[in-house]
Amino acid sequence: MARSIFIEGTDGSGKSTQLGLLKEYLENKGEKALALREPGGSNYYESLRDLYLHSPHEHPAVSDALISAAGRAANIELAKRALEDNIWVISDRAYPSSFVYQAVQGVPLIDIKDINRHALQGFDYDVKILLDVSVDVAMDRVEQAGGKKDRWESKGKEFFIAIREKYLALAKTENYTVIDGSLSVEAIHQQIIECLSI
Ligand code: ADP
Ligand code: TYD
Repeated sequence: MARSIFIEGTDGSGKSTQLGLLKEYLENKGEKALALREPGGSNYYESLRDLYLHSPHEHPAVSDALISAAGRAANIELAKRALEDNIWVISDRAYPSSFVYQAVQGVPLIDIKDINRHALQGFDYDVKILLDVSVDVAMDRVEQAGGKKDRWESKGKEFFIAIREKYLALAKTENYTVIDGSLSVEAIHQQIIECLSI
């Protein structure tokens, strides 16, 4: 039976909303769930989050790949322990974020995969979901949600078009389940539950 899942997608695609609903659903079924998010999740990766999202200092894109992989390694340790204890692992973003965002920034995919091989140590998720929404919808949602934008959300529309395309291409080659993120929150939730067979 599946016990681990990531939900991926552009900023504003609805990942956090769905992970919150999924955690509630699993707990109502009497299951325990470890909720992770990236950047963040483990205390170690959380301590890198601010640097990741807001660093004003110039740095090469490969630094982002290395930092996220360093934090991710700590999440994977937590995930492995949780699974041993029959606890679900549900993650808001995971390694595909690096495969997409850092690739769009120009880091060769082969290097990103190599860096992440050290972080993942053979670990992979059972269920892999991409929430796909148009860039206009996603940007509108981020705008509506308000708050200070991080250094990623401040990038222009062209950047997010490239991110969406890269996600769709990756989903195809890696067999992720693509769900239409413009559906209602409830409809998406139901589709995610169907992928879990619980
Ligand atoms: P992400 O974690 O992918 O950035 P969020 O779950 O934070 O996305 O959602 C971004 C915004 O869009 C929030 O204001 C949320 O309430 C809203 N939202 C999420 N899912 C939907 C949906 N299916 N339809 C309309 N609005 C949504
Ligand atoms: P966050 O606010 O956590 O995500 P969201 O807006 O989707 O809720 O922002 C995380 C940002 O960091 C997001 O723009 C993607 C980027 N990112 C990478 O570039 N590489 C990575 O490996 C990860 C995990 C995130």
